[in-house]
Amino acid sequence: MSTRSCQVVILAAGEGTRMKSALSKVMHPVAGLPMLGHVLRAADAVGASRAAVVKGPAGDDVAALAKKLAPSAEVFTQVERRGTAHAVLAARAALEPPADDVIVLYGDTPLIRPETLGKLREALELGAAVAVLGFRTANPTGYGRLLVEDGQLTAIREEKDASAWERSLNLCNAGVMAFAGAGVLGLLDRIGTDNAKGEYYLTDAVALANADGLKVVVVEAPEDEVRGVNTREELAIVEGIWQRAARSTAMANGATLVAPETVFLSFDTQIGRDVLVEPNVVCGPGVTLEDGAIVHAFCHLEGAILRRGATIGPFARLRPGTVMGEKAKAGNFVEIKNADIAAGAKVNHLSYIGDATVGADANIGAGTITCNYDGIRKYRTEIGAGAFVGSDSALVAPVRIGEGAYVGSGSVITEDVPDGALAIARGRQVNKEGWAAAFRAKATAAKKAD
Ligand code: UD1
Ligand code: CA
Repeated sequence: MSTRSCQVVILAAGEGTRMKSALSKVMHPVAGLPMLGHVLRAADAVGASRAAVVKGPAGDDVAALAKKLAPSAEVFTQVERRGTAHAVLAARAALEPPADDVIVLYGDTPLIRPETLGKLREALELGAAVAVLGFRTANPTGYGRLLVEDGQLTAIREEKDASAWERSLNLCNAGVMAFAGAGVLGLLDRIGTDNAKGEYYLTDAVALANADGLKVVVVEAPEDEVRGVNTREELAIVEGIWQRAARSTAMANGATLVAPETVFLSFDTQIGRDVLVEPNVVCGPGVTLEDGAIVHAFCHLEGAILRRGATIGPFARLRPGTVMGEKAKAGNFVEIKNADIAAGAKVNHLSYIGDATVGADANIGAGTITCNYDGIRKYRTEIGAGAFVGSDSALVAPVRIGEGAYVGSGSVITEDVPDGALAIARGRQVNKEGWAAAFRAKATAAKKAD
């Protein structure tokens, strides 16, 4: 990676009125992470050591997220919305003194890849004063058009200011622009508002740089990578593009997705080799599927790790803090939360295991419930290695089932069970010989008498 310093300025002032939302636009998630988070991650991955986020007056949620995901990020407020150059200049303090490279990104364009930002940085390193990210599209309406002569970008013409011939061009401005830091303020401070919208256009920096005899180039990216989000519909389109790419990556890395279009991944999902994912599976944030893990159909996972060869589902729900050890199993209609299920342990049917540790090779019978909550606090259940918990048992936490111990089916366990013991906590069975025939005779007679 280059030793040049790099500053990103992320424009996130859009209030997103068309989203019809209480959230700022850039706070809407794609693959479980707010759009702004995707852009901050791309910036980080391309080696940007400094990040500035420009929010609107109402963007408290934007500021909070920026501080959480990138504690060193500086947050600026653009008080009045007067154009993209005006927005960048709201972060003026971040540009004094400037980094070697300055990249302007949009917070509502979350699919931008670090590799692409790297190409913009390379262009600067090769002597460009400005490098603009362009894309080709069949439907250029609304975008700024890139006017290129002999490899030099001479101007960007906004739709509203373009001639008919310029409008026929299909090479468009993605909005991402990189500047040699030393000259950036010199360009931006000269931008005026003499255009159809009466705004300070960042894109005017291109013509100004040309007038100064500086090198200005275009770097091209695929249209899908630079799609912006203004509406919920566009949010879903961007989500779809992200999901298709993530599924392809998982498969390229050696996982089998039987029906990939029905599997939903998150920004941080980790999938190893020879993992099998059956149809209709959702991986929320924080999921790791190690090599050879199997996720049967209709599972929902969040904050969960499947160690090598662990198997879940069909119809399992793993909530945050779940670790399934090597070859551990969770079967149908099982919910597990904040629990360590050690290697080889099985929770095969209809159970809730929460705030628990289950030792290696333990067997948890059908319908076992850890009663972990008294309405006020949560308590832990510990189940020792090799323990056998009979079906339909309620384990009232805090409680410990010893190693190798047995729990009789249908027990309500409120006290610790020693290692190797059998605990039975249910009414003793009573058989009354001949009772059924006597009862029927008596009941039938009573009915006739009515
Ligand atoms: C801009 C580009 C256009 C490009 C298009 C790509 C300019 C003048 N035009 O046009 O060439 O093809 O993006 O999508 O730059 N913003 C602020 N403060 C402002 C104005 C905008 O923060 O005062 C932010 C917006 O929230 C948005 C981004 O900058 O994230 C782009 O602004 P927008 O008004 O959508 O620009 P376009 O007209 O689409
Ligand atoms: Ca736009």
